[in-house]
Amino acid sequence: MQSNIFLIVNGTLTMETQKVFALAYLCWIACLLPVICQEDFNTVGSTVERTAYHFQPPKNWMNDPNGPMFYKGLYHLFYQYNPKAAVWGNIVWGHAVSKDLINWKSLEFAIIPSEWYDIKGCWSGSATLLSGENPVILYTGWDNSSRQVQNMVVPQNSSDPYLRKWMKIPENPIIVPDNGINGSSFRDPTTAWLGKDGRWRILVGNKEDQHHNGRALLYISKDFVHWTKKKHPLHSSKKTGMWECPDFYPVAKLGKLGLDTSTNGPDVKHVLKVSLDDTKYEYYTVGTYFTGIDIYVPDNTSADNKYGLRYDYGKFYASKTFFDNHKKRRILWGWINESDSMQDDIAKGWSGVQAIPRTIWLDNASKSQLVQWPVSKLESLHGHKIYKENINLDTGSTIEIAGLTAAQADVEVSFNLPSLADVEKMDANLDAQQLCSQDGAATKTIVGPFGLLVLASKDLAEQTAVFFRVGVHQNKMKVLMCSDQSRSSLKTDVDKTTYGSFVSFSFNQKSISLRVLVDHSIVESFGEGGKTCITARVYPNQAIGEDAHLYLFNNGVSSVTASKLTAWDMVSSQQPSHTIRAYEL
Ligand code: FRU
Repeated sequence: MQSNIFLIVNGTLTMETQKVFALAYLCWIACLLPVICQEDFNTVGSTVERTAYHFQPPKNWMNDPNGPMFYKGLYHLFYQYNPKAAVWGNIVWGHAVSKDLINWKSLEFAIIPSEWYDIKGCWSGSATLLSGENPVILYTGWDNSSRQVQNMVVPQNSSDPYLRKWMKIPENPIIVPDNGINGSSFRDPTTAWLGKDGRWRILVGNKEDQHHNGRALLYISKDFVHWTKKKHPLHSSKKTGMWECPDFYPVAKLGKLGLDTSTNGPDVKHVLKVSLDDTKYEYYTVGTYFTGIDIYVPDNTSADNKYGLRYDYGKFYASKTFFDNHKKRRILWGWINESDSMQDDIAKGWSGVQAIPRTIWLDNASKSQLVQWPVSKLESLHGHKIYKENINLDTGSTIEIAGLTAAQADVEVSFNLPSLADVEKMDANLDAQQLCSQDGAATKTIVGPFGLLVLASKDLAEQTAVFFRVGVHQNKMKVLMCSDQSRSSLKTDVDKTTYGSFVSFSFNQKSISLRVLVDHSIVESFGEGGKTCITARVYPNQAIGEDAHLYLFNNGVSSVTASKLTAWDMVSSQQPSHTIRAYEL
C-alpha cells in the first residue's frame, strides 16, 4: 500500500504537487504512527480481569519464565510465548527488560523456531553468565522428528545491554537424547555451575520410562559446547514421573543474601526444585551436594516426592531462580496458570501471568525450608495507605476495611493469637489441602478460621478467604493456612480448588502475620513472613473494580485481635507490550 502511493506520486504529478502529496503522505504516516505503535499496547478481551502489576503480555498465551538474569544494568526476563493464540503452541522466547523487576519494556522475540533442531518450538531453558559476565542461553528445541534436544544461543553483540539479538551456534544441537533416553522426556536445561575441577555442570529434566522415576540428568563440559552425560543423575526419585524445569542452587546457612550458582562450602546448603508434570505442582528439597561424587542428597526433613515442600501451595509452576549479582539476592519467578476454561481464555485473548518476583533464602532458624518475600521494589507501587491498630475480631465478626481500591491492593496484617491452651484436635495426617477444603472459611473451630476476605462483593456472595486455623496434633501446635476459592466467583466454569498448607510455628508464638497481594484476578498470599505462600487465580463476577471489597473476619470461637493492619492501593506497573519498535529505557 505504501509503495503504491509512492508510484502514484512519482509517476503522474508535477514537482510542486509531488511535494504537497509527499507532505500530506508524511502527515498521514505521522497520524498513523501512534495507531501502529499503540495497536499492540491495546489488550484484547476483558480488561477488568487483567492484572495491573503482575507481568503479563497484552495478548496470547504465556507459560514458563525463562533465562532470567541481570546484565549491564538491566533485568532480563524471557518467557514461553505463543505469538498466535491464547492457547499453548508455536512456542517462542518472548523477551522483556526492566530496571527494577516491576516495570517492563518489550523487546523482539529472543529465540524463534528456525532450524531443524527447534523447528517445532523453542522450549524452556536458562541463562548462565560465563566468568560472571558473558551471557549464554541453553534451551530445549523440539526438533523435526519430535525429539527434545538441547541448544545454545549467544548474544550477537554482548556490548548491547538489551541483548536484542541472539545467535544459534553452529554446533547445535549440543546435547541429544542418546543411550536409551526417551526424546519426549528430555528438557529444560538449568543454569550451569562450575565445579572445583573447572568444568561446567548442568541438569536436564527427564523421566526413566520403565519405573516412571523422575531424574535430574547431569552433564559436564569443559568448553560449554561439548557435554558428556554423567553415569548417574544428580538425583532421582521413584515414581515421580517427568521432572520438568529442574533448578539447582546454593543457599547461605546464615543471612538472606543470595549466592552465585557455583558457590559451595561448609556455610552453604543446596536446593533442588522440580516441576512434576504428573501433578502440575512443584516440589523442592533442601540438602547437601557432595561435589566429589556429584551427588545431591536431600535432608531427611525434605521428602523428594509429591509430599514434599513447595514454594507455593496454589497455582505456581515451572519456576526458575537466578542470582541477582547487582543486589546479591536470589530471585524466584513462577508462572501462574489459569483457572478458567480454554474457551474463556480464547474469548479473553490471553492466558497466564508471572507471579511477583520473590527474594528467596533459607530459613535461618530451621535450615529446613525456604522463605520468600516479594521484591522490595514492589513497594514503589504503593499508593494511598490505610493503617489501623488493635481491631478486635469477636466470633463471627466481619469488618470492612474501607477507603481502599480493594481490587488492586497490598495488605499486611498481624494477628495476636488467643490462649492456645484449649484448641481443637487436628488430624494432621490428613493433607493440609484436604483439611482446608473440608473445613473452609465458614467452619467454626476454637481458634480460627480468621483472616482476610479479598475480592469480596458487598453481600459476601463472592469472596476469596485467606485464613489461618490453629489446632493440636500429638501435643504439637499446628497452624493451617488456607486460600479458599470455593466462593471466589458466581461463575461455574472456573476451577475453585481450595489450597492449603501448614505454617511452621513455634509453641510459644503469640502472633501470626499475613500479606496478600490482590491484583484483580490474582490473590498472592504470604503467611508468617513468607514461610508459606499460596497463589490463587480467581475470576469474580461481581467483586470487580470499584465493587470489590476487603474484610477482616473471624469465624472461630475465640476472639482474635488484628494488632496492626496496613493496606495500600497499588499503582499499575508498566507492562510488556508487543510493539513494532524497540524501546529505549
Ligand atoms: C513446563 C513445560 C516445559 C517445557 C515448556 C514448553 O510448563 O512443559 O517442560 O519446556 O513448558 O512450553
